[in-house]
Amino acid sequence: MLQTNFLKKQFSNPLVLASGILGLTAASLHRTVQNGAGGVTAKSVSLEPRPGHPNPVIISKKYYILNAVGLSNPGVVEAVKEFIKFKQLCATPLIASIFGGHHDEFGELAEKISAAPIDFLELNLSCPNVSHEFGRPFAFSTEAVTIITKKVKEKTKIPIIIKLSPNASNITEIAKAAEAAGADAICAVNTLSGMAIDVKMRQPILHNKHGGVSGPALFPVALKCVYDICSTIKIPIIGTGGVTSGEDALAMIMAGATLVGIGSAVYYRGENAFNKITDEMEKIMTEEGIKNLEEIRGICIH
Ligand SMILES: Cc1cc2nc3c(=O)[nH]c(=O)nc-3n(C[C@H](O)[C@H](O)[C@H](O)COP(=O)(O)O)c2cc1C
Repeated sequence: MLQTNFLKKQFSNPLVLASGILGLTAASLHRTVQNGAGGVTAKSVSLEPRPGHPNPVIISKKYYILNAVGLSNPGVVEAVKEFIKFKQLCATPLIASIFGGHHDEFGELAEKISAAPIDFLELNLSCPNVSHEFGRPFAFSTEAVTIITKKVKEKTKIPIIIKLSPNASNITEIAKAAEAAGADAICAVNTLSGMAIDVKMRQPILHNKHGGVSGPALFPVALKCVYDICSTIKIPIIGTGGVTSGEDALAMIMAGATLVGIGSAVYYRGENAFNKITDEMEKIMTEEGIKNLEEIRGICIH
């Protein structure tokens, strides 16, 4: 009922772990598969290891999570080792994610990470929490997205996914530029820029002062981004942002998404969130007489 084909790979269901939620070790990613994920995206990696931002890096509220982890990761060499181990444990589709501070770093990372048995390569061009180090996210600029997409396509044969930002005022233009430059798919969206202030302390709560908003509050924003992008381009989309229920996941698919990213739901509904959400999807589909996801994909787009 939930089987999904994405760029010629079969997914047992359309739910994929979003990047940065459960790290990149083989053990953690494999456990996520055992908890029902149809595919997994690893934490974004850079050429060298990064410690990330000092604490506090994350706060959670009823309707949103705010994080500024600062892209902490063990670097691409360690990541490759973990991806090899993961594929020895299962055949579930694995999406690696990379980020760099300069166009050329993406090319170099793509080359290095292609040594691993990954199925897809996501380019994180949209992290809102590291602007003091790297400047404006690349996902704000059609030129930057074009250059990086072309550079990475030259360096790897692995299908690439461009991850976009809901903070870009022209997200459909950015998606079009990615498609024209050769991207195989889009992931929309990353977190939305935000902040929190401790009134008694009279200062921002996060050490980084600002961070990225995810979780239920992001859902309607992400849904509209996915709908707008799907109305504009032909390549498939991973609809990510605030999905915490089967109903949300089906709405993402009706907006045109092929796969659905699951991030903060792991916090709100536990590590078994994937199984819970697929059960809810199947229940709604049965009640509504929907036999498979193809029947409803993009059904709202006219
Ligand atoms: C703690 C945390 C860390 C994240 N790290 C990354 C990351 O390394 N790379 C990336 O592309 N997105 C990262 N994200 C963004 C998520 O992949 C996702 O796009 C976003 O959280 C929206 O989905 P959600 O509302 O389902 O969590 C992170 C999100 C959170 C909450």
